[in-house]
Amino acid sequence: MIRLFHVSKFYGRCSALHDVTFHIDKGEKVILAGPSGAGKTTLLRVIFGAEVPDEGQILVQNRNVARLRGVDIPYLRRTMGFVPQNFQLLPQKTVYDNVVLPLIIQGVKRREARKRVGASLKAVGVEHKQAVRAGALSAGEQQRVCIARAIVNRPVLLLADEPTGNLDEALADEIAALLRTIHAQGTTVLLATHNQRVMAQMQGRVLHLRAGRIVSDSDARAGAA
Ligand SMILES: Nc1ncnc2c1ncn2[C@@H]1O[C@H](COP(=O)(O)OP(=O)(O)OP(=O)(O)O)[C@@H](O)[C@H]1O
Ligand SMILES: [Mg+2]
Repeated sequence: MIRLFHVSKFYGRCSALHDVTFHIDKGEKVILAGPSGAGKTTLLRVIFGAEVPDEGQILVQNRNVARLRGVDIPYLRRTMGFVPQNFQLLPQKTVYDNVVLPLIIQGVKRREARKRVGASLKAVGVEHKQAVRAGALSAGEQQRVCIARAIVNRPVLLLADEPTGNLDEALADEIAALLRTIHAQGTTVLLATHNQRVMAQMQGRVLHLRAGRIVSDSDARAGAA
């Protein structure tokens, strides 16, 4: 599903990722742990094709992300859902409009789009908020809407960046449960978090990142690629 070979990414003299090699199989549930600044967001962004690594190779479903030309990137992204670290919803638009956006970009027909948006809002438990402005929602609701937007494409791979970052414990627990359900339904999940509680609840393989390097991998095949 995802293979990284000796991936490095530099920002000036700062090495955000340093010689990162690992692979994730289809159907896995992986937690990307590590302190602030460890490179978690950068790693998710290079997998999503939103950043280009300076060294190394990244294969997502056997396609070399770094080598994809402009028009191929949207095709690859359609197979992935990304929940960004900050909500990044359009606050003036309704919940429906926010979630339908990826489908409009893909040219999905309106009736089909409505069906899919309804289903993904239902999956995250905020279907009753469809017509509400995103900016008027609580933090937990906004986070759910971000997850709905990320799964509306029915991605095979869900990348979630600190999706519980701004939430209290009870809400964080709910989001963790939601991600477990999405995983149980067949989606490969890669979740970046430094929340110990969420890590414990997710009960997945843990990849530990520190200063841009993988320092441990709870998977027995650590380092294999
Ligand atoms: N666009 C950028 N320009 C310059 N430096 C950057 C940029 N993005 C990230 N960095 C640096 O790369 C390192 C890794 O950042 P990253 O955002 O990936 O960390 P993180 O593990 O997601 O941290 P957090 O838990 O705080 O979200 C940091 O030192 C950061 O300052
Ligand atoms: Mg981050």
